[in-house]
Amino acid sequence: MALAENELSFQEKVDQDIRIEPKDWMPDAYRKTLIRQISQHAHSEIVGMLPEANWITRAPSLKRKATLIAKVQDEAGHGLYLYSAAETMGISREEMVDQLLSGKAKYSSIFNYPTITWADMGAIGWLVDGAAIMNQVPLCRASYGPYARAMVRICKEESFHQRQGFEILLVLSKGSEAQRRMCQDAIDRWWWPSVMMFGPNDEASPHTAQSMRWKIKRFTNDELRQRFIDVCAEQVKLLGMRLPDDLLKWNEERQHYDFGPIDWEELRQVISGNGPCNKERLAARVQAHADGAWVREAAMAHAGKRAQRAAPDQYKVA
Ligand code: 3HC
Repeated sequence: MALAENELSFQEKVDQDIRIEPKDWMPDAYRKTLIRQISQHAHSEIVGMLPEANWITRAPSLKRKATLIAKVQDEAGHGLYLYSAAETMGISREEMVDQLLSGKAKYSSIFNYPTITWADMGAIGWLVDGAAIMNQVPLCRASYGPYARAMVRICKEESFHQRQGFEILLVLSKGSEAQRRMCQDAIDRWWWPSVMMFGPNDEASPHTAQSMRWKIKRFTNDELRQRFIDVCAEQVKLLGMRLPDDLLKWNEERQHYDFGPIDWEELRQVISGNGPCNKERLAARVQAHADGAWVREAAMAHAGKRAQRAAPDQYKVA
């Protein structure tokens, strides 16, 4: 089939919500976009473990420690699912890891902020995982099969992440004056970076229009951001706290919350590596990769041995 026919029949499948699978023909640009988005999503999950891991040894109780360990372990699993989904498009795990460690690939800006108090664990669960859920539930209907299927399981675990975070803040909000102050301080520091997780606004987004046509995205950055703000503006009332936005106000006509200006320069700076913790996060990942080299070598040697034992004599590796 000529390219144009291929493109046409591909788009017809997408328009009819027929899932695209790894062996199906797809435009190079579709493959490239998905490798970019899925691999960066996976990097975000892996780097996203670092801010919370900082509090595992300092959790205020054994229960909180166990819950936080479970959550951080989940994020590692999410990263592995997503790397595997990206591999179905023809990129190797090594290539993706190299893109992250060399600083070529992006990961979510949100993970470049410091976790200063225990309340940050609550704010991350409630706001960061809450934003992730808002963004990831529609991805369960993405046109690319392996991505959509990976999202189904990830979203189930994200809802546990968000609930445990909100519960941490709820307990603090009912605690001492110092605990209430700690709760509000964490919300103040994590609110706007969480709002920025949804990406630049639609006019400034180079990918959104095409990703909508390909049904990789089911909603635009601004639509999901608005939904997130509407939900959090109600939930924060249950905490007896406030979101750090004096312009946040219900707009009866729009049936949405109006909100204040987003500091796009901050997002640009953090994305380009000048956030509070970018260097520390990447250094930690580079170090972890180096420290784990012996595990990879042992696993490869074991796999090689197993292959030799399994291979019939004539294929015995010299
Ligand atoms: N942080 C870092 N980079 C960002 C960003 C952010 N918050 N928002 C946008 N960008 C980057 C994009 O990657 C793109 O750069 P690139 O072309 O070099 O990849 C550029 O800015 C333009 O942005 P667009 O909005 O046009 O790009 P996308 O169409 O890819 O939309 C996105 C960005 C909404 C993040 C989309 O990629 C997406 O939905 N990704 C999947 C979900 C995801 O990655 N979430 C990140 C958090 S994961 C997480 O929270 C885990 C949870 O367990 C805590």
